Amino acid sequence: MNRPAVIFDHVSKYFPLYSTTSGIKNFLFHLPSAIKEMRSARFWALKDISFEIRRGETFGVMGRNGAGKSTMLSLIADVLKPSKGEVTINGRISPLLELGSGFHPDLTGRENIILNAVLLGMTKREAITKLDEIIDFAELNGFIDQPIKTYSSGMLARLGFSVAVHRNPEILLIDEILSVGDAQFQKKCTKKMLSFKENGVTIVIVSHNEDILKKICDRTAVIERGKLQSITETGKEY
Ligand SMILES: Nc1ncnc2c1ncn2[C@@H]1O[C@H](COP(=O)(O)OP(=O)(O)OP(=O)(O)O)[C@@H](O)[C@H]1O
Ligand SMILES: [Mg+2]
Repeated sequence: MNRPAVIFDHVSKYFPLYSTTSGIKNFLFHLPSAIKEMRSARFWALKDISFEIRRGETFGVMGRNGAGKSTMLSLIADVLKPSKGEVTINGRISPLLELGSGFHPDLTGRENIILNAVLLGMTKREAITKLDEIIDFAELNGFIDQPIKTYSSGMLARLGFSVAVHRNPEILLIDEILSVGDAQFQKKCTKKMLSFKENGVTIVIVSHNEDILKKICDRTAVIERGKLQSITETGKEY
């Protein structure tokens, strides 16, 4: 039972490129060739990436904007499929935590919690049982019955993190959202993640906050323009 939680085996991922340099008239005039050109234009967001994340490991991912971090997490979450290579996951994945992802702007915080939980496979009863815990953790009491389109980004992050951690994931994926939480909430999330870590949960966390990564990660990967640049052991400073 010691299979790695995540295996990337020579994984590459491209997105179609939208080139409109020749102008719309030109595009329509040369429609067949223009479509062909559009179809073949590709941007390789991840290039030949191979690594493994051990079960129970806390794995950080760093890199500049557009480096490919969210693409990598989306592949782990099975939201995207690799164009080449293979991604293997062993364990139950939490929802991919990106700001506001999976939430409906017109529904209230409370309704979103239930919707999200049900979409993620909880029964409605389980979701309702956990509702109070989730609301408590998020500390949004005054706003929980307001539509989330009125929430600040920090409030959205609180809601997202709280929903994800109350699902007892085996693999927790966190993309950025901690950066928008205030200091007090970041502290609370860090504490929560450390307790997950102690319980053997695998955590993959993308962040621009090196301090958080250094504090909680066993290893941290750096991605540069779609390539895996390095994976280093990170100091365990907690
Ligand atoms: N759905 C998509 N269609 C086309 N291109 C995309 C798509 N998603 C990502 N990309 C491109 O892939 C590259 C990597 O994007 P990604 O979102 O993974 O970066 P990131 O490292 O998460 O950046 P950030 O720090 O800004 O969140 C970017 O150049 C982006 O424009
Ligand atoms: Mg990103």
